[in-house]
Amino acid sequence: MKEQEIRRKEEILEPRGKLGVLIPGIGGAVSTTFIAGVELVRRGLGEPVGSLTQLGTIRLGKRYEYRTPRIKDFVPLADINDLVFAGWDIYDANLYEAAQFAKVLQKDHIEPIKDFLASITPMPAVFDRRFVRNLDGNHVKKGKNLRDLVEQLKEDIRNFQKTQGVDRCVMIWCGSTEVYMKPEDVHSSLPAFLEALEKSDERIAPSMLYALAALELNIPFVNGAPNLTVDIPALIELAKKNKVPIAGKDFKTGQTLMKTIIAPGLKARLLGLEGWYSTNILGNRDGLVLDDKDSFKTKEESKLSVLDYILQPQLYPTLYKNYYHKVTINYYPPRGDNKEGWDCIDIFGWLGYPMQIKIDFQCRDSILAAPLVLDLVLFMDLAQRANMNGIQEWLSFYFKSPMHKENLYPEHDLFIQLMKLKNTLRYLMKEEQITHFGLDYYME
Ligand SMILES: NC(=O)c1ccc[n+]([C@@H]2O[C@H](COP(=O)([O-])OP(=O)(O)OC[C@H]3O[C@@H](n4cnc5c(N)ncnc54)[C@H](O)[C@@H]3O)[C@@H](O)[C@H]2O)c1
Repeated sequence: MKEQEIRRKEEILEPRGKLGVLIPGIGGAVSTTFIAGVELVRRGLGEPVGSLTQLGTIRLGKRYEYRTPRIKDFVPLADINDLVFAGWDIYDANLYEAAQFAKVLQKDHIEPIKDFLASITPMPAVFDRRFVRNLDGNHVKKGKNLRDLVEQLKEDIRNFQKTQGVDRCVMIWCGSTEVYMKPEDVHSSLPAFLEALEKSDERIAPSMLYALAALELNIPFVNGAPNLTVDIPALIELAKKNKVPIAGKDFKTGQTLMKTIIAPGLKARLLGLEGWYSTNILGNRDGLVLDDKDSFKTKEESKLSVLDYILQPQLYPTLYKNYYHKVTINYYPPRGDNKEGWDCIDIFGWLGYPMQIKIDFQCRDSILAAPLVLDLVLFMDLAQRANMNGIQEWLSFYFKSPMHKENLYPEHDLFIQLMKLKNTLRYLMKEEQITHFGLDYYME
């Protein structure tokens, strides 16, 4: 992406007409909570709590100017009234039934919008059980080979665009976590990937086929799960070639959100870390999928890397070199989507004296994820209209494993991530960057 290609301020294309939101995994807990929530907000029956685009503000200029508009009044975002939804799932239940199955929202949030939810039915998915072993739905496409499946997805998207009168779309993967995969030669370049696709190579996961379909139709793609998906050189190359924004991976909610709030604080005060033990119980379908060790490994990798990047043991060996870090997720059906996460943090202070911090976060997974989905859809659409393409690192704020350029380490500190995001918005609107320097106020 070249700087002069980025459209800024008045050059950013206006968000005219409807914005299509395409969701692989549309029948899941996160998707149904997101879609129902948007409709409730539109009807004045709910508040978009947790959404930066809907509730957040941004400071502009000097502190004494008191210019703090809402983000949605500052940058040209699509209006939530203009969102229309479609997606795929391996189960054919409509969203009214799926939301009831997910048991995230209560009756008084589902019943008033029953007609709306029941009107959205998943399209048959591209699915392969080798990648998600603990699920077995039959609402699945058949194809001659992987290319054929991609073409079927593209046909679904074109039909949706035509019937809904939609010209801009964003695709966001809210499907299950696929088994752990390492990038291999077939993922290393676009020609190698396309050749492997023709041969239906078994190292190409279903999520990659959705991403390919999106990118070939110039649709921005976001990955909400920790799967490799679009985080491979082949698809990054395609995103740049077709000038499409991409972002991922793995929504930062729950325990990792807490970790990236607390760890920067410990490091800021140079408090040492002996160990950080994290465990969770979770009883929804995501928990069932993660009960398979290879799907969990994908998640584990995503959760573990966070601390090392924040604490930088190579720079602070006496404080952070040998800390013990463990993360587990236990499938425990009675809790459903209401995950409970415990952290036992062993720290040390002045002269090495030990101290402990305990966290018991009784959270609601999809309630935390839904506003992230909304923000990502709106910001990715903005990125596309501003002609920003390839990896959107400024959206790291939303992810456990932010995608980043090769040879550049990811930024995990939530507060730096937020500053990065807001400075990108200031840049796009030709406002001065805010460094929080502040000494200038005291210079005569
Ligand atoms: N706070 C959170 O909830 C959170 C945070 C980070 C990441 N995630 C990730 O988001 C994803 C969704 O989470 P969830 O709680 O909604 O899970 P879920 O199991 O309720 O929903 C996932 C849906 O994807 C469907 N699916 C699986 N493979 C598919 C395919 N190939 N094509 C289309 N549909 C497919 C499943 O049938 C299911 O309905 C998971 O990967 C999860 O790890 C969730």
